[in-house]
Amino acid sequence: MSGKSNPNVRCVTCTAPVNIAVIKYWGKTDETRILPTNPSLSVTLGQDELRAKTSVAASSSFTEDRLWLNGIEQSISSPRIQNVLKEIRRRAHKRKSGDSKNDVVLTQHVHIVSENNFPTAAGLASSAAGYACLVFALGKLFGVHGEISDIARQGSGSACRSLYGGYVLWKMGSKEDGSDSHAVQVQPETHWPQMRSLILVVSDQKKHVGSTEGMQTTVQTSDLMEKRIKLVDKRTAEITKAINERDFPTFAKITMQESNQLHAVCLDTYPPIFYMTDTSRLIVRLVHAINDISGKVKVAYTFDAGPNACLYLLEEDVPRVLSLVRHFFPPSKDMKDSSFVTGLKLDEIKPLSGDISQINIPISEGAVKYVIHTNVGPGPQVLTDPKESLFTSEGKPRL
Ligand code: DP6
Repeated sequence: MSGKSNPNVRCVTCTAPVNIAVIKYWGKTDETRILPTNPSLSVTLGQDELRAKTSVAASSSFTEDRLWLNGIEQSISSPRIQNVLKEIRRRAHKRKSGDSKNDVVLTQHVHIVSENNFPTAAGLASSAAGYACLVFALGKLFGVHGEISDIARQGSGSACRSLYGGYVLWKMGSKEDGSDSHAVQVQPETHWPQMRSLILVVSDQKKHVGSTEGMQTTVQTSDLMEKRIKLVDKRTAEITKAINERDFPTFAKITMQESNQLHAVCLDTYPPIFYMTDTSRLIVRLVHAINDISGKVKVAYTFDAGPNACLYLLEEDVPRVLSLVRHFFPPSKDMKDSSFVTGLKLDEIKPLSGDISQINIPISEGAVKYVIHTNVGPGPQVLTDPKESLFTSEGKPRL
């Protein structure tokens, strides 16, 4: 670290997780407040492999609010960021502590530096982790405690679910002002210790239709969407029961049916939206083939607004499933085998064994770029070590 530490800068650094929905959020009834057409439920993933990190600083020497994202300064004028900042400050004012040292921050501008340890906008829920982290860090800086997932929701709907670990429900709520549309934890990350996730990164390119725009067109044009909305409550109740009872086959079947229905309403959108690619569909076929030859449902897939697959499976099945993934989607020649799977030691990846003649799928070299192995993880964390800060000791962004 260089330079003198600046005592006039107050800084907080936090991390927040990615969540991947098993009951999908797709459609809004209010575009500004970000109120959903249906409840949704997600699994919060471990932060070692996938997380957003955000440092927020306030100082009397700052003359305006500023934001740096993945090393580049961005405009802070986007309505969603402005809504989040306005709401945090409004609640902070409401709760003024009376301690002038703490309250001075309310009059100051903030600088925000945020980065992800995974590709942004690749359908890997980067906006969810990013907004959850921003709201959590601002909450700490401004002393706003209690329920804040409804503030994260106003940044990006799915972000409200990243404020909790484990299995998380976003209750759609019924109030017009959105105050009861927030996330609640269904079960903590410790509830089902064997649960694992494999993210098969098919492409880390930006998606062709963003989720905000995509879901808007679906609500406007898809007839199937009306039918879907009527089904979601039942599915949410069933998957909650399966999670509570650690019933993997039921959890997995609903997860796959939900993903398929999301992509069916996308296809029913006019003009149609395609997030899944040929490789995504080969992954679906592989998962069903594995489940067929196993005689029971061992693996589930789910796809968001992009071609990457998120597989859910139990710890005992990870070696077998990974060896099959690597067999049918071998890394391209220029990729070292050791970097094909992250989040696992190389000796935990077993060579393929057993009869696979029943799996009739073409081998597609390089179609899966890499695989991220992770578990179910906790909600946002505060990092107290100053070395973790994305600001220098003088309060400048560390870019
Ligand atoms: C397919 O939360 O990104 O990942 O609220 O417009 O920011 P906005 O949308 P966003 O949508 C996520 C959609 C999804 C499904 C899900 O996470 O539930």
